[in-house]
Amino acid sequence: MDNPKQHEGRVALITGAASGIGLQIARDLAQQGATVCIVDRNGPAAEQAAEAIRSEGGQALALVLDLADTEAVQHGMDGLLQRFLAIDILVNNAGVVSTQPATSVTLAQWNNTLAINLTAPMVLTQRVLPAMQARRWGRIVNISSISGVRAGTGRLAYGSSKAALIAMTGQFAIEVAAHGVTVNAIAPGFVDTPMIRTLHGSSNANTYLDVCPMHRFCSPQEVSAAVVFFCSEQASFITGQTLGVDGGYLASGLFMPRLFEIPAATPTAAAA
Ligand SMILES: NC(=O)c1ccc[n+]([C@@H]2O[C@H](COP(=O)([O-])OP(=O)(O)OC[C@H]3O[C@@H](n4cnc5c(N)ncnc54)[C@H](O)[C@@H]3O)[C@@H](O)[C@H]2O)c1
Repeated sequence: MDNPKQHEGRVALITGAASGIGLQIARDLAQQGATVCIVDRNGPAAEQAAEAIRSEGGQALALVLDLADTEAVQHGMDGLLQRFLAIDILVNNAGVVSTQPATSVTLAQWNNTLAINLTAPMVLTQRVLPAMQARRWGRIVNISSISGVRAGTGRLAYGSSKAALIAMTGQFAIEVAAHGVTVNAIAPGFVDTPMIRTLHGSSNANTYLDVCPMHRFCSPQEVSAAVVFFCSEQASFITGQTLGVDGGYLASGLFMPRLFEIPAATPTAAAA
């Protein structure tokens, strides 16, 4: 059984932690004793998130950064590494999504999506790895998506960035495996967060719920639980993996409950 305060004395950097999934991850890692750095471009929300974690007894600070700006990311990391010497846990969670037909995606939209969803995780990973390798302990978790595994309509830039993030996870993982550092990815299905609420109207969301074997959205807590596991001592021999947290979506192919008369069931509730 893991020590409930197993990350005491460790520093965790979580991008996009001012809201949604990232905020839940920051809360959960802080509860396990880590000092959490909330990196987000939304300054007021990041400060509010850090304050909320501190009021729960955790240690948290906010760092306002636009991850699309690689120079600013390098500069922000210089400051953090001067202050903490090492980041022990990195969760590349921040991401942006927009949907449009593949033929109408502009180069600017493509570049912006890849800068935030792929280049920033690469830059941050490179920056945190030397100290992790020297200390022979580190955990890196990349939040990808089911869209990085299976194609979806309107997701040319997003799906490509998330697929590349999965590929990058494996590339880093095998090069640092012998140094006590693990690198894993998570592929959530639709999660009930501001991102999904603004992206999809209810009809699109219902289409997804039809083809998701659990017929419900994932909760931020369910994604965070997988991150917490990858960061734990129990996951010390697991690296280079991508875990679907998706209610069975990626496992399903011909999912036609009506055809095979699978009895209708009331979906189980998401974790609180
Ligand atoms: N919500 C879903 O259904 C879902 C499904 C699969 C994967 N994901 C992935 O999970 C991650 C988190 O998603 P979420 O639903 O919590 O999103 P969200 O929109 O609720 O939160 C994203 C956070 O990232 C921050 N952010 C965005 N761009 C940034 C930038 N350039 N620099 C710094 N911060 C930036 C935002 O300010 C926000 O606080 C994303 O990578 C997303 O692709 C989400």
